[in-house]
Amino acid sequence: MFNFDFYNPTRIFFGKDRYDVIDKNIPSDAKVLITYGGGSAKKSGLIDKVKAALGSRKVYEFGGIEPNPHYETLLKTAEIVRNENIDFILAVGGGSVIDGTKFISLATYYNGDATDLLKFGFAPITSEVVKKVVPFGAVLTLPATGSEMNNGAVISYNHGKFPVMSALAFPKFSILDPTITFTLPKIQVANGVVDAFVHTTEQYITFPVDAKIQDRIAEGILQTLVEIGPTTVAEPENYDARANLVWSATMALNGIIGAGVPQDWATHMIGHELTALLGIDHGQTLAIILPALLEVRREQKRAKLLQYAERVWHITNGSEDEKIDLAIKKTREFFESLGIKTHLSEYGVEADKIQVIVEQLKAHGMTALSETQDITLDVSKKILEKAF
Ligand code: NZQ
Ligand code: ZN
Repeated sequence: MFNFDFYNPTRIFFGKDRYDVIDKNIPSDAKVLITYGGGSAKKSGLIDKVKAALGSRKVYEFGGIEPNPHYETLLKTAEIVRNENIDFILAVGGGSVIDGTKFISLATYYNGDATDLLKFGFAPITSEVVKKVVPFGAVLTLPATGSEMNNGAVISYNHGKFPVMSALAFPKFSILDPTITFTLPKIQVANGVVDAFVHTTEQYITFPVDAKIQDRIAEGILQTLVEIGPTTVAEPENYDARANLVWSATMALNGIIGAGVPQDWATHMIGHELTALLGIDHGQTLAIILPALLEVRREQKRAKLLQYAERVWHITNGSEDEKIDLAIKKTREFFESLGIKTHLSEYGVEADKIQVIVEQLKAHGMTALSETQDITLDVSKKILEKAF
């Protein structure tokens, strides 16, 4: 196992009707800004419930944080936070609203051009760079990204998607109420299952470092998603299935399974280009890329692919290659069983776009991806061709 530091200060409040914790976890004299997305939280009555829980605090609202949140929208909101002296931000939404709120929190008092904050990649932004942040909490409406309990955000700017990481960007608390997610369209639930699945594989299907706890938790998350995935898509109000999806998605990217192990974020990095260039949903981009990436990288990932085949899919017969083939086939079939297409061509994309995607990867410096930094642009191209 590699050396690691682990830090996660986010309080989680899980279960039905936990709105009472809002009052207890935000200072009583705080001026609060509620941030939300395109309106689903307004329509469902969730914003009204949250406002009621805030009692007599002075409350402001900012709706309109779009999926794949845009830098410009977030900067506008940061200005409101500054001008109104907001003390606490409450994000009500999915990954986009929570990520957007993280960026607002970091950008509000940043002394300089806030595009600087997009240039750190996976290197954490420290308190020497951003001296003051605005504390925030979250009410999660879409289980997928893990943003509710991690320190990352992905911000869209100028045809690119930029990771932003900082220990300053953990929510103070997050409310995870599975019933809030009952209103999600089926496709968003399916996207969420895939996102959680791929977050897990990217910290698990790499090379072995004898990290038994991390591996077994990862295998537990993957098996849970396989078990409840199709049910939670088909039966939105099945509380237990949805509760298990919510906690799987949080556990997949809150730092626990990634501690002390190699990580391969290539599926995400290639996927981000598909979203930025072609507007394909985040979860769908991962379903397109992951099976192809596992094919192309089967030699580098052989030992963990075999472990994945045996422990997650219970494949015990056949040669090593047959086991790996079957595990990749089952992965693809699982995504498809959720209603997600796994080939780029099925999204109305023409083959000539592959070269454009490769050029975008180059423009964004994504030239040495993977757990061993050896996915060059040529390898990414091969993966995209296989994914077509
Ligand atoms: O905007 P509204 O009207 O709320 O509608 C949203 C949006 O259209 C809708 N929705 C959310 N909750 C709902 C609901 N509709 C009905 N009922 C509800 N309860 O769902 C749509 C998608 O929402 P979005 O927040 O964009 O989805 P998701 O949670 O999948 O977030 C995707 C974003 O997270 C980033 C992605 O790149 C993408 O920008 N990621 C963030 C990560 C992180 N912070 O750690 C890691 C991930 O890998 C990911 O990259
Ligand atoms: Zn993701």
